[in-house]
Amino acid sequence: MATHLQVAIPEHNLLIVGPGVLGRLVAQNWRQEYPGCQVFGQTVTTDHHHELTKLAINPSLEWTKASHKFPYVIFCAPPYQSSDYLAHLRLAASCWNGEGSLLFTSSSAPYDCNDNGFCDEDSPVVPIGRSPRTDVLLKAEKIVLEFGGSVLRLSGLYISFSEFNKGAHVYWLEKGIVESRPDHILNLIHYEDAASLSVAILKKKFRGRIFLGCDNHPLSRQEIMDLVNKSGKFSKKFEKFTGTDDPLGKRLNNSRTRQELGWEPKYTSFAHFLETI
Ligand SMILES: NC(=O)c1ccc[n+]([C@@H]2O[C@H](COP(=O)([O-])OP(=O)(O)OC[C@H]3O[C@@H](n4cnc5c(N)ncnc54)[C@H](OP(=O)(O)O)[C@@H]3O)[C@@H](O)[C@H]2O)c1
Repeated sequence: MATHLQVAIPEHNLLIVGPGVLGRLVAQNWRQEYPGCQVFGQTVTTDHHHELTKLAINPSLEWTKASHKFPYVIFCAPPYQSSDYLAHLRLAASCWNGEGSLLFTSSSAPYDCNDNGFCDEDSPVVPIGRSPRTDVLLKAEKIVLEFGGSVLRLSGLYISFSEFNKGAHVYWLEKGIVESRPDHILNLIHYEDAASLSVAILKKKFRGRIFLGCDNHPLSRQEIMDLVNKSGKFSKKFEKFTGTDDPLGKRLNNSRTRQELGWEPKYTSFAHFLETI
C-alpha cells in the first residue's frame, strides 16, 4: 500500500489574518509555490472554520495564545468586522518572527485625489484627521511599517467565481438605481490578481515598502455599468446613477510595482474579465 510522506516546511509556513475571499486565494497560491508548507487562518468568529479546514487552512480564534510565531504573515481582514482593528494588527505583527515577510493589504482610498487625477505609489495621502475611514488605514499601515512589514494598497476588488460574486458592479446591479455621480473614476483589480500580487510581495521579503494593486485601466462608474449591461452576462440590467455633486475619484497607475516585482495581472482590465465569464 502506498504511504504518503507529509513533509512540513516550517520556514514557509504562513499565517493569514482574515482568510476571506482574498486570504483563501493567497493560501491557494502560496501552497502552489511551497507544497508541504502549513497555512493558518486567524478569524473573528468560528463561522467559517469548517470551510477553512476543508481548504487545509488551520483556523484559529486564539489571539491570546498567540505565542506561536510565523515566518510569513499576511493581514487581509477588512476593518469593518473588528472591535479594535489596530490592536488586531499589532497582534498579527507580533506573530511574525521577522524572517520571511509581513504584509498588510490596505486600500488605495488614502491617496489624496478627488478630481479624477493621476496617482501612483508615491502620490501624497490624505492627512490624519480628515476621515475616520482613511485614518484607520493610515494608522494600520504605520504599525506594519514600524514592525518592518510592507503594505499593499489595493484598488476595488471584484470576482465572479462559483459562490463568490463580489465587487462594486455586483452591488450596483442589485440596486439598479444608485445615488452617486456617474463620472467618478474607479480603479479595479481582480481578487485573483490581488492574491498573486500579494504572494509576489511576500516572496521577496521586502522591509517597510508600499506597493499599489490596480489593473491600470481606470473606468468611470458609468463605463463600468455600460460594460456590464452590454456584456449580456448578467440577468439584471443596471438603470442609472443619479448623483451630481459627490466627489470625483482618481486614476491609479502601478507601473513601479509591476516593474519591481515582475508582476502583471491575469485580468488586464474589467472589460477583459467580462469576456472571460
Ligand atoms: N473589497 C474591496 O474592494 C477592497 C478594496 C481595497 C482593499 N481591500 C482590502 O482587501 C482585503 C481583503 O478583503 P476581502 O474582501 O477578502 O475580505 P473578506 O472576504 O470580507 O474577509 C473576511 C475575513 O476576515 C476575517 N476577519 C475580519 N476581521 C478580522 C480581524 N480583526 N481579525 C481576524 N480576522 C478578521 C473574517 O473572519 P470570520 O470568518 O470570523 O468572519 C473573514 O475570515 C482587506 O484587507 C480589505 O480591507 C478591499
